[in-house]
Amino acid sequence: MSQYPSARFSVAPMLDWTDRHCRYFHRLMSRHAQLYTEMVTTGAIIHGKGDYLAYNEEEHPLVLQLGGNDPQALAQCAVLAEQRGYDEINLNVGCPSDRVQNGLFGACLMAHPQTVADGIAAMKAVVSIPVTVKTRIGIDEQDNYEFLCTLVDKVAEAGVDALIVHARKAWLQGLSPKENREIPPLDYERVYQLKRDYPALTMAVNGGIKTLDEARAHLQQLDGVMLGREVYQNPYLLAQVDAELFGEHWQVPSRHQVIRNLLPYIERELSQGTYLGNITRHTLGIFQGMPGARAWRRHLSENAHKRGAGPEVVEAAMARVPEESVVYS
Ligand SMILES: Cc1cc2nc3c(=O)[nH]c(=O)nc-3n(C[C@H](O)[C@H](O)[C@H](O)COP(=O)(O)O)c2cc1C
Repeated sequence: MSQYPSARFSVAPMLDWTDRHCRYFHRLMSRHAQLYTEMVTTGAIIHGKGDYLAYNEEEHPLVLQLGGNDPQALAQCAVLAEQRGYDEINLNVGCPSDRVQNGLFGACLMAHPQTVADGIAAMKAVVSIPVTVKTRIGIDEQDNYEFLCTLVDKVAEAGVDALIVHARKAWLQGLSPKENREIPPLDYERVYQLKRDYPALTMAVNGGIKTLDEARAHLQQLDGVMLGREVYQNPYLLAQVDAELFGEHWQVPSRHQVIRNLLPYIERELSQGTYLGNITRHTLGIFQGMPGARAWRRHLSENAHKRGAGPEVVEAAMARVPEESVVYS
């Protein structure tokens, strides 16, 4: 079992999607799911003009995902992250985008296991929060089990606290990042094998998981599951996570109540200059599968970006969805 219970279920890091508004919204439905930031590069943190480490206190347990390859820069960012109160740091060894490859980090680091290990060791030396790696099972033609084990051996030696394995390889040339999340086949068995061969290493699987039944099946073999797109598109899935995967039965708010609970946050953010649409875009899927779901999405899509749009737009969108009579608990 995992040393870090919250790693039993996590919401994947997703660039442009899992920003702090999204994470605040997700947290309204699960107290235990571990949430990830988008990938933040060490360069942005060290040299950027904005505050790339900003988050809301409510988001804990929260993992900062770093993109980078220079041990010194990673260590510097890890210290800053710990000071800011992040619960964990994760190094991205899975992103195949051209931009990331040009910076020599992300998935192409799989071919440089010593660099990954040096980065992990450098971070472990300066922080006491867990430091983890998110990786693929291979890249390009380097997709045999031994290739993956070489990376795992190195990072284990460097003291990595957990591995999250996206159970498909990445093609570094010729496929877009989106295609790289769909075309290379999933191979869960390889991740199970890895856990059998490294039983002391905390390990979570990621990729293509859509239901909590599937999640439970993976948890028979592994310490954790990480879901990305399904949670983003169908966020109310999170409302069952605490009861079904953490054994905590609290009165989870209904879909409508989740949105009502978001309104004070929206007001606070709007008063600080955030656009309504930047928050509501993450909520479009909350009524998925319910009567009125389309009207909700349409009202928000047509109105939330307008100048001066405020909570009344959300209330009006919600009024188009019949209130549920049964509350999940
Ligand atoms: C829009 C989008 C952005 C993503 N950005 C990141 C990222 O910043 N870091 C990362 O490690 N993975 C990123 N991913 C990959 C996801 O974390 C995850 O590995 C992938 O979507 C497979 O999981 P899923 O099938 O549950 O979505 C991204 C995925 C999507 C859809």
